[in-house]
Amino acid sequence: MLCQCPKLSPLQSRFIASAITLIFLGFVYWSFFNPHFAYASELDLDGTGLSRNGADHNWHRIQQEMLEEDGIDVLTDGEEVEMMLQMRRVEEVDEAVMEEKRATNAMAMAIDDNNSPNQMNILAGNTTVWFYSNDLRNAPPAPEGSGLPSGLGDKSKAQNNDLDKRGGLEKRQNGATTVYISINTCVQPEWNGTGVQTDAPPQLTLYVSTTSSNTTPGPNGSNSTQIAVPLDKGFANATVQADSGIYMSINAPALPDGFTGVWNYELAVSTEDYYHSADLDDPFLFLVDTDTNSALLVTDNLTQADSSDPIFKKWMNISTPFIMFAANVNHTASMGMENSFCGWSKIRQIEAQQSDPEGIDTGVQMGMITRGLGRKPKEQFYITNLNRSSEYNGVLAMEGNSTKAGKGVVGGGGKVWQPVQWTTKSDGNCALLFNLTFCDEVAYAVPSNPKSFNITGMRNVFDNYTSTMYQNFNYSLAQIPCNTTSEAQYSLAKTCTDCASAYKTWLCAVSIPRCQDFSNPDPSLQPRNVGQAFLNNTYLPSDYLTMNYVPMLKAPTLEGSPRDTQTFNTSLATNSSRNPTIIDDMIQPGPYKEVLPCEDLCWGLMQSCPASLGFACPHRGRGLEATYGRRSPDGSLTCSFLGAVYNTNGVGGLAAPFSKVVAGAVILAFVLMVV
Ligand SMILES: *[C@@H]1O[C@H](CO)[C@@H](O)[C@H](O)[C@H]1NC(C)=O
Ligand SMILES: *[C@@H]1O[C@H](CO)[C@@H](O)[C@H](O)[C@H]1NC(C)=O
Ligand SMILES: *[C@@H]1O[C@H](CO)[C@@H](O)[C@H](O)[C@H]1NC(C)=O
Ligand SMILES: *[C@@H]1O[C@H](CO)[C@@H](O)[C@H](O)[C@H]1NC(C)=O
Ligand SMILES: *[C@@H]1O[C@H](CO)[C@@H](O)[C@H](O)[C@H]1NC(C)=O
Ligand SMILES: *[C@@H]1O[C@H](CO)[C@@H](O)[C@H](O)[C@H]1NC(C)=O
Ligand SMILES: *[C@@H]1O[C@H](CO)[C@@H](O)[C@H](O)[C@H]1NC(C)=O
Ligand SMILES: *[C@@H]1O[C@H](CO)[C@@H](O)[C@H](O)[C@H]1NC(C)=O
Ligand SMILES: *[C@@H]1O[C@H](CO)[C@@H](O)[C@H](O)[C@H]1NC(C)=O
Ligand SMILES: *[C@@H]1O[C@H](CO)[C@@H](O)[C@H](O)[C@H]1NC(C)=O
Ligand SMILES: *[C@@H]1O[C@H](CO)[C@@H](O)[C@H](O)[C@H]1NC(C)=O
Ligand SMILES: *[C@@H]1O[C@H](CO)[C@@H](O)[C@H](O)[C@H]1NC(C)=O
Repeated sequence: MLCQCPKLSPLQSRFIASAITLIFLGFVYWSFFNPHFAYASELDLDGTGLSRNGADHNWHRIQQEMLEEDGIDVLTDGEEVEMMLQMRRVEEVDEAVMEEKRATNAMAMAIDDNNSPNQMNILAGNTTVWFYSNDLRNAPPAPEGSGLPSGLGDKSKAQNNDLDKRGGLEKRQNGATTVYISINTCVQPEWNGTGVQTDAPPQLTLYVSTTSSNTTPGPNGSNSTQIAVPLDKGFANATVQADSGIYMSINAPALPDGFTGVWNYELAVSTEDYYHSADLDDPFLFLVDTDTNSALLVTDNLTQADSSDPIFKKWMNISTPFIMFAANVNHTASMGMENSFCGWSKIRQIEAQQSDPEGIDTGVQMGMITRGLGRKPKEQFYITNLNRSSEYNGVLAMEGNSTKAGKGVVGGGGKVWQPVQWTTKSDGNCALLFNLTFCDEVAYAVPSNPKSFNITGMRNVFDNYTSTMYQNFNYSLAQIPCNTTSEAQYSLAKTCTDCASAYKTWLCAVSIPRCQDFSNPDPSLQPRNVGQAFLNNTYLPSDYLTMNYVPMLKAPTLEGSPRDTQTFNTSLATNSSRNPTIIDDMIQPGPYKEVLPCEDLCWGLMQSCPASLGFACPHRGRGLEATYGRRSPDGSLTCSFLGAVYNTNGVGGLAAPFSKVVAGAVILAFVLMVV
């Protein structure tokens, strides 16, 4: 199969280069007939429109069980009395304190400490008043943590300023201090209406007053003596300057038809920083790829520091500072709590746990990696046990301050970022492959067949194949005058190191193709192996297979040329893979679609390597379109390159800078086809 030629004559080395070129695969065929393929497609696919269908009719029961598990009393019919009693008990305890502080609000509940989650149920239409005493405001600050190795990514400056703010500097200046108030919804009313729930239940509102002239802030209070902050998807924060105690209240709105039950929330006050936080703009998380039952996600770069920098090393040495939560999009009961750490931790449909980084109980494996563009530190999440053809919402989260959570910890209530959506694949013949030894930058779904290889087997097959190919290439490269005077070098701009690295990038992207469901309608995808059987032993319908396929519009129509007479099952572009030795013969995945490698990978190789190696890229209109894809200026997924991640704001897009420079230079420079 693979050429094993340790010592090469010039002719042999030429042969190796040609053999390598075979990976442009099957295109040998066209070079004989001078034929050619398809059109360049630059359609961006927006396959991820959300549909929130189906209601979880067990939600009520689950909600109740969760609350009970957490020691929260659930108010169902007739249990309001219990809540009243609870409130009274708290009131009695705090009565003395309140009198001392000249609090006039007999019904106020006392905030028990700084950096403490004050957890409470609330009924629709009700308002609960809370009092934060002057003693707590003057209490010594909690010990500050060391913090993460650096601010996150490029946003470090803003974050550091936030940190500087800690410690109540203002405290010493005048009587007034900054007080940080935050709230998370933990549980919300559930849907008991008929049909599918389309909207979240309404949100609670936080009211804050710093003046003793308004000891019962709330919906009826005057705006001159209070601030009102409606919760946004289960989260709100407020900062106030206070020189005495603070009055707060939580108001629950009336429930619209179709909802029943109570809210449960955590209200926390701190003199140092918010106990709960939510990043309302940034997901800080990217989808890498999915298969039928798993998804791979990575955080954004945690730092831009170089690998020699101590900050880089610190990031790589801490274990999993972030966790993730996720839920099926049809888990409508969780709609409306997306910004709440407490909300997500109660939903608990899919959850990574810091205590279980191997994902033994949760099915979510976490780890620090440097894979990806720039090779900067990131945290990776590999989520397994997902359902086929299903849509999920996931958020990056931090439990407490990442090393400690809960009462007494500054920021102990945790943080969440914005949700990322993904859909699992349907056909079962694309498998997520990453953690390879040679092609260590590969992380995407590849054509697979569980009947021929499990994922470990696939890893070995591809590692063996690519490293053997690379070894052969190195024998050829060794015959080129690389390490010589600049006059004798094959190029002034490129060295053999550039050539070897361009070859490795190209080899990995091209010999390990990126796989999509055959059923995916994205026109930028290239159908492959259409004549093989699906995993369920069925074949594509013959009217599809015998449909005309004209892949090379610019090929001459010489006598006998199959340019216009090819069909899906006779064209090599559609009825083979680009790596037949491994994929067609050994793996046998059946029909799949390929996200073609980006054409700049081929051009980069041609530019970087000496012409004597014989690398050539196919021409536009004559093979290029069925072998390589074009990057899309809008960043959507149209071609595959190592380190690609899905763009989070453009649906379905790849976060990839469009390199106009490279494309322009290459179009001018190269067009030759050698086999
Ligand atoms: C690796 O590839 C070589 C050459 O193709 C083959 O002889 C060998 O058996 C392969 N090894 C494994 C472990 O697959
Ligand atoms: C959610 O959708 C999946 C299919 O996508 C289905 O199997 C599951 O039963 C649904 N769950 C609910 C709660 O509707
Ligand atoms: C507020 O809750 C109490 C019991 O906790 C109840 O008696 C009262 O009716 C509620 N008020 C409103 C407006 O629902
Ligand atoms: C988290 O808080 C604990 C206790 O307050 C502290 O010891 C630790 O250093 C903090 N961790 C970070 C990363 O700041
Ligand atoms: C207070 O301000 C809010 C908007 O911020 C407004 O909706 C509300 O009606 C105001 N209340 C009063 C009593 O003026
Ligand atoms: C809430 O917190 C965010 C940062 O976590 C901050 O940008 C925002 O200004 C805060 N809002 C208020 C009202 O303090
Ligand atoms: C939903 O719950 C509310 C309040 O508990 C109740 O009044 C209503 O009848 C319930 N609706 C249905 C369809 O069960
Ligand atoms: C990370 O940083 C590199 C540059 O160092 C950049 O190319 C890349 O787009 C950044 N983001 C991700 C998600 O890789
Ligand atoms: C076999 O699998 C293919 C691809 O997943 C699917 O399109 C087709 O409907 C399946 N056929 C049967 C009979 O299940
Ligand atoms: C990746 O490989 C390393 C060692 O080869 C292993 O420790 C780690 O668990 C692997 N990660 C995953 C997610 O498979
Ligand atoms: C994968 O398959 C090989 C044999 O083909 C077997 O030895 C190995 O245990 C399998 N690994 C897993 C994780 O199933
Ligand atoms: C060129 O020289 C460098 C170091 O001097 C070496 O690492 C490299 O392998 C050499 N390249 C070739 C193709 O001999």
